[in-house]
Amino acid sequence: MTSAPAPLPVLVRPTKRRDFPGIISLCERVYSGRPWREDQLESHLKVFPEGQLVAIDPGTNRIVGMAASLIVLWDDYDMDVDWKGITDSGMFTNHDPEGHTLYGAEVMTDPSLRRRGIGKALYAARRDLARRLKLLRIRAGARLRGYHQYADRMSPDEYVTKIVKGEIIDPTLTFQLRQRFRVIAVVEDYLERDPESLGYAAVIEWVNHEVAKKRDYAERPRRFLPEGKQ
Ligand SMILES: CC(C)(COP(=O)(O)OP(=O)(O)OC[C@H]1O[C@@H](n2cnc3c(N)ncnc32)[C@H](O)[C@@H]1OP(=O)(O)O)[C@@H](O)C(=O)NCCC(=O)NCCS
Repeated sequence: MTSAPAPLPVLVRPTKRRDFPGIISLCERVYSGRPWREDQLESHLKVFPEGQLVAIDPGTNRIVGMAASLIVLWDDYDMDVDWKGITDSGMFTNHDPEGHTLYGAEVMTDPSLRRRGIGKALYAARRDLARRLKLLRIRAGARLRGYHQYADRMSPDEYVTKIVKGEIIDPTLTFQLRQRFRVIAVVEDYLERDPESLGYAAVIEWVNHEVAKKRDYAERPRRFLPEGKQ
């Protein structure tokens, strides 16, 4: 029996300008040819520096993960807003410090270091940020990375229901559900040119219990919530 790889203790800290080459190189390894551009990374630091995080391997000092976020006033958007719309084409210039929702626009970890707790560390730092800024919640679009393998057999809604029940593993959504996120909707055309998700994404949410009122849970769409959960 092979044992699970040991967790890699990483340092998660706010992104700095000098990290851009490392982030772009990480992007190339993750998405092969869809890297964040330097002008976008520059814009993120200008509008919301606290929302930009990198994970560093202290052994090599290399960037092995990143997470990029902005704050939005959710009421300004429809549930089926696409990635371009909610990130202002990746520039985050729609960042609104008066909003209550931290929007996770990106999270990625080094493909050679997956399942070693780097994504988990980045998400823990994101939740800390939401708590520190007293935001109501974190939302994000989770691209349904494994859907192309099931598209001939089931609808995206059925696929997500099976992931929530633990009957199917999706490399992205299963990870996010493990980070205490819930699915509140399934949307189409979230990403352009994504042959894995075919453009489908789950809108996911983590609620900050320190801020949320009863009403915030009651208003949560329940269709994809696991039974018996808020
Ligand atoms: C999604 C992603 C960030 C996960 O990063 P990671 O560093 O491998 O995640 P971790 O090792 O911290 O895993 C955390 C948890 O998720 C689970 N998990 C992670 N990847 C998984 C997978 N492929 N299948 C099942 N579970 C998975 C782990 O078992 C772990 O569970 P635990 O908390 O109970 O121990 C990474 O796979 C990635 O960069 N994917 C490509 C980019 C992407 O699609 N980003 C999402 C955009 S919406």
